[in-house]
Amino acid sequence: MSTSNDLQATVEALVRRGKGILAADESGPTIAKRFKAIGVESTQENRRAYRSLLLSTPGLGESISGVILYEETLGQSADDGEPLAALAARQGIVPGIKVDAGKGPLAFAPGEEITQGLDGLAQRLEAYVAQGARFAKWRAVYNVSGTLPSRMAIEANAEALARYAAICQSQGVVPIVEPEVLIDGDHSLARCAEVTQEVLHEVFGALRRHRVVLEHILLKPSMVVPGKAHAQQAGPEEVAAQTLRVLRRAVPAAVPGINFLSGGQSPVEATANLDALNRLGPQPWQLSFSYGRALQDPALQAWQGQPAHARACQDALRKRARLNGLASEGKYSAEMEGGR
Ligand code: 13P
Repeated sequence: MSTSNDLQATVEALVRRGKGILAADESGPTIAKRFKAIGVESTQENRRAYRSLLLSTPGLGESISGVILYEETLGQSADDGEPLAALAARQGIVPGIKVDAGKGPLAFAPGEEITQGLDGLAQRLEAYVAQGARFAKWRAVYNVSGTLPSRMAIEANAEALARYAAICQSQGVVPIVEPEVLIDGDHSLARCAEVTQEVLHEVFGALRRHRVVLEHILLKPSMVVPGKAHAQQAGPEEVAAQTLRVLRRAVPAAVPGINFLSGGQSPVEATANLDALNRLGPQPWQLSFSYGRALQDPALQAWQGQPAHARACQDALRKRARLNGLASEGKYSAEMEGGR
């Protein structure tokens, strides 16, 4: 198959009705934080056991089309020796890989960050593809205040996202382009909308300059929500309306799928907001999820690092995956939270 056919096949496998993506690509420090909250030590074996449990959840493939893994996980196997990427694929879930090397300070831009990891990316991708990865993820973050993010941070991060996406496509790997406008802070819904629109305009300008094929990317944005510390929080209808207004202004219709991150929304909020978005009628792109915390938090709570809780952990993951799958078709209702 040509590279273009590979990319198209991967997009079609990921963008499926009623399905979304599981983000299980927490870096070393992030997974340590999640484990600490449930009193589990972040050892290589505990990370393997947990992620193996997630991926072996019976029926997970009914609402999950792809999983984003961390580099370490791509080299790990289940108890029976099956590589975790192969286990995912057997469940009908396309394995993907986080390829950015995290964020660091953007020089001469106090309070702002730039994502790293472009050097040697083409070579690393070759190795990831050999291990089964078919898509990738790169996350850019934007801190919000009255003055941040600056033009400089918006431009620098857009350029890095576009270079990453171009390198991925040249290697036959579908790039998930993730610009995350952070929920931290006391900014208003209107300020989040303004920043998100600026960020997306810049990202799509950079993608065009770098000749990225829009039909072969997925966008993973944050929803338009007020800062966590803002006095007036917004309900699902308002979040959906504002998010859609920004997306319609900034995201070309050629993009096949928009898979939101949860970014600090609670699991139920993230589901309700996605559902409200999909109740606003058909859009040029499929609107679905690529949640980390909003899918995994209940599973982690159920697990507590106890092998005896394996089943409860998987039940909790399958439930959130199923409800988000329904939300991606606008078929979720709050009453469903009561069931398993
Ligand atoms: P959250 O849904 O927890 O924000 O994680 C998604 C993700 O992949 C962040 O990079």
